[in-house]
Amino acid sequence: MYFVAGATGNVGSQVVRKLSESGVGVKAQTRSSTGGKVAELQRLPGVEIVACDLMDKAGLAEALQGVKAVFLVCGNAKEQAQMEINVIDAAVAAGCTYLVENGTHAGYTNKDSPVEFGRHHWEIEEHLAKSAGAMKWTVLHANWFMSNHLGDIFGTLPNGAIVYPLKPEDKAQLVDPRDVGDIAAQMLLDSDPSKYHGLHLMISGPDVLTWSQIAALYTEELGRPIEMATCSEPEWVAAAIKGSGFEHWLAEAAAHNFKVIRDGGFLHTTSPQLLALAPPRRTMKEWIAEWAPRSPPPPAAQ
Ligand SMILES: NC(=O)c1ccc[n+]([C@@H]2O[C@H](COP(=O)([O-])OP(=O)(O)OC[C@H]3O[C@@H](n4cnc5c(N)ncnc54)[C@H](OP(=O)(O)O)[C@@H]3O)[C@@H](O)[C@H]2O)c1
Repeated sequence: MYFVAGATGNVGSQVVRKLSESGVGVKAQTRSSTGGKVAELQRLPGVEIVACDLMDKAGLAEALQGVKAVFLVCGNAKEQAQMEINVIDAAVAAGCTYLVENGTHAGYTNKDSPVEFGRHHWEIEEHLAKSAGAMKWTVLHANWFMSNHLGDIFGTLPNGAIVYPLKPEDKAQLVDPRDVGDIAAQMLLDSDPSKYHGLHLMISGPDVLTWSQIAALYTEELGRPIEMATCSEPEWVAAAIKGSGFEHWLAEAAAHNFKVIRDGGFLHTTSPQLLALAPPRRTMKEWIAEWAPRSPPPPAAQ
């Protein structure tokens, strides 16, 4: 039996899908037992929905009984460190043999990070390294998620643009979070996870793209011009709060990613062990082909 925390999210849902496909049993954790994403997971063979808040230590202790290995991801939240630490402690107490944790950008995962969730991830990883006992563990550090571009789809594309505090030539090696999920599931299913024990592994997608190339892909897919427009960081933060419903602290923290991109910090490749295991293959062109048609039309066409 496997346990996936954050099972309704971008990465966790794919881990559940892949584990289910391989024929093992999966406990899929979510805070709510209703909703479309839960219903989708519930339909998968071998999947049991576990409705449990990650702050509920007693609920986690019960949910982790009989579990062999754990995938741990949580959306960025003020209580993220405590929630993930609760899962780690419950996994150790239940005698789980392996845990894969979804980290963030390694470059800002530290105690004094200017990025609040970078400090949360540091606290989680410190706790994991110190408290895992006999349980093997691995931390994954993924590149800029393609799903960060949902703001283009539902926000700026109808106005003919993607808008970021970046120059058109700034670039990253974006990754589809489903590729991160595929890798994590393979690691959990590995007969000898000790070869990944204690490692911090990097994951990137197959292509390096500039923001002007991303705009060109939208142009090609939608058949109308989409330009790459540069805004200031405060403008991006304001739009993320108003348009995407980000809390202020999270928008400020997420905006730091643009400095990292400008400095070339999202050009890392995938760790060789993971390229051998399940090389990320999904491209931004494919992601755009999947999502751009769901973007509302320009105002004049409505
Ligand atoms: N975005 C990027 O470019 C990027 C890159 C590398 C790493 N990361 C890291 O990846 C993680 C996010 O992964 P993801 O996109 O798969 O996660 P996600 O989809 O944002 O969230 C995963 C699940 O966590 C639960 N959740 C969300 N917000 C929560 C909150 N405030 N309190 C408690 N639970 C909450 C939700 O489940 P329920 O509602 O069903 O309970 C959600 O489905 C973060 O730790 C982030 O730092 C992100």
